[in-house]
Amino acid sequence: MPAPNAPEIIGRPLVIAIDGPSGSGKSSVSREVARRLGLEYLDTGAMYRAATWSALNAGLDLTDTSAVAEHVRLLDLRMGTDPSAPGVWVDGRDINAEIRETRISASVSVVATNLPARAELQQRQRDLIEAAAKGERGGCVAEGRDITTVIAPDADVRILLTASEEARLARRARELHGSDDATAVAATRDQIVRRDADDSAVSSFQVAADGVLHLDSSGLNLEQTVQAVLDAVMRNANANVGNGGRHNRVTDLDSADLASNGAVNR
Ligand code: DC
Repeated sequence: MPAPNAPEIIGRPLVIAIDGPSGSGKSSVSREVARRLGLEYLDTGAMYRAATWSALNAGLDLTDTSAVAEHVRLLDLRMGTDPSAPGVWVDGRDINAEIRETRISASVSVVATNLPARAELQQRQRDLIEAAAKGERGGCVAEGRDITTVIAPDADVRILLTASEEARLARRARELHGSDDATAVAATRDQIVRRDADDSAVSSFQVAADGVLHLDSSGLNLEQTVQAVLDAVMRNANANVGNGGRHNRVTDLDSADLASNGAVNR
């Protein structure tokens, strides 16, 4: 029999919301947390990327707000939420790799700030999170810019994951260019700094809202950040681990209390 996942251990669905700016590491962290807790993983940024890819593929001018909104309303989008193999399909076509290309990163903010298109995707995100909570895995980790505040303000655990601009630029430069030298950082700046400034027009993801835990990952590696999130889940999800030690996966995950080193602020 497979080991019980986190919702089975605590006896109810578990929804974890993680927001943050570009390069904060939230995708890798959210995915890994979902994998370890046996939850689904929802990358809401990928939904805006897919909508952008599809609108461009249809030859639309992204600044034509109503045409793009109508296109998004009719979008045949499927999100694969298995954290070990997340995927994105439009009209049955796998576009998971294409939506990460620079041309999409450079234009996705136009769609993310198109309010009717945004409302459509936000509704789909709420539906997907609800379906995950009722589904086989009993919950999900959903990540984006407005999940803790607008999409899932009632999530069991809400975290704003940030990192200094310097750390975010260096991380993304290494991802995109294999180096964080001055040229690579300069080439990455548009994708981090300009995009976050544009996206800030429609969502607030630089300062933690009331009740949202702030985790600064500037000085942490991926594993330390994952552990800090798991620790927050332990503290916030009222995990029922008093079951004679049979189901102790969640306690086992609580190996680092990073609150003590100042990375986590309640
Ligand atoms: O996280 P990402 O880079 O894949 O996000 C792609 C774009 O979508 C980015 O410009 C911000 C936007 N976005 C948003 O506005 N709201 C979300 N919940 C997720 C992403």
